[in-house]
Amino acid sequence: MLLQVSNISKNFGGVQATKDFSVTVDKGEIVGIIGPNGAGKTTIFNVISGVYTADEGSILLSGQNVTKLPQHEITKLGIGRTFQNIRLFKGLSIIENVMCAFDPQSKYSFIGSIIPTPKRKAEEKRGKELCEHYLEIVGLKDYINEAPENLAYGYQRRLEIARALMCNPKVLLLDEPAAGLNPTEVGELTELILKLSKDFGFATMLIEHRLELVMGISHKIVVQNFGKTIGVGTPKEVQNNPAVIEAYLGAEEEDNA
Ligand SMILES: Nc1ncnc2c1ncn2[C@@H]1O[C@H](COP(=O)(O)OP(=O)(O)OP(=O)(O)O)[C@@H](O)[C@H]1O
Ligand SMILES: [Mg+2]
Repeated sequence: MLLQVSNISKNFGGVQATKDFSVTVDKGEIVGIIGPNGAGKTTIFNVISGVYTADEGSILLSGQNVTKLPQHEITKLGIGRTFQNIRLFKGLSIIENVMCAFDPQSKYSFIGSIIPTPKRKAEEKRGKELCEHYLEIVGLKDYINEAPENLAYGYQRRLEIARALMCNPKVLLLDEPAAGLNPTEVGELTELILKLSKDFGFATMLIEHRLELVMGISHKIVVQNFGKTIGVGTPKEVQNNPAVIEAYLGAEEEDNA
């Protein structure tokens, strides 16, 4: 199993953001997490990606225990993510925003950090080519020198995904990638997530309020409410689960009424 999360809990000064959460995600599998606002979905990603350390429980990545590791080490070991609120650097071009995530394999020598040695130049070239490659995959090859803030929202989301790919992840965590997108963009994003999952074999976890997206592509859905899991199953199973209908899908129908 690529990712095995067992019984993780996280408390913030009395708020039990996540309690006893477990999930497994295998290579090529897409797992959706849904639930109302404040259900603890982002907290699950923050704990898995090492932004916060779990109070209890364990996280195994390809069998290796990463529960207590700091964020940068977890990223290096292969857990990539995007954020609910897009995090792009203004003042940097699109390719520079992706290059930020480049980790040179051959660390520059002391001399290389002062003057551009052939080794350093070669490594920078490799980084740039990698950026271009990932920007092409997400459909942004034609915009590499533009400012990210000039991009449509859907493209900014893709830029974040390209940056996550730079860390060569095995697990990809996408936190509401469809937020703010129009229906056409949601369709394109759906295709992209499926393509990445198939071509790279990622274990993908997807937090999403846009049910048409998450229900359409997830192999398994976990439903969260008040920090707890209230339903797990195929999209069809959770749609027919009375507890889920009452807590989440029902509430949404009321909102739309
Ligand atoms: N760093 C933090 N400090 C204090 N409380 C936090 C922190 N992060 C999350 N919480 C609280 O934990 C609960 C779960 O928050 P979380 O962001 O995980 O929910 P969510 O399901 O992602 O919600 P949304 O759908 O609105 O994004 C909320 O009550 C939130 O206020
Ligand atoms: Mg959230």
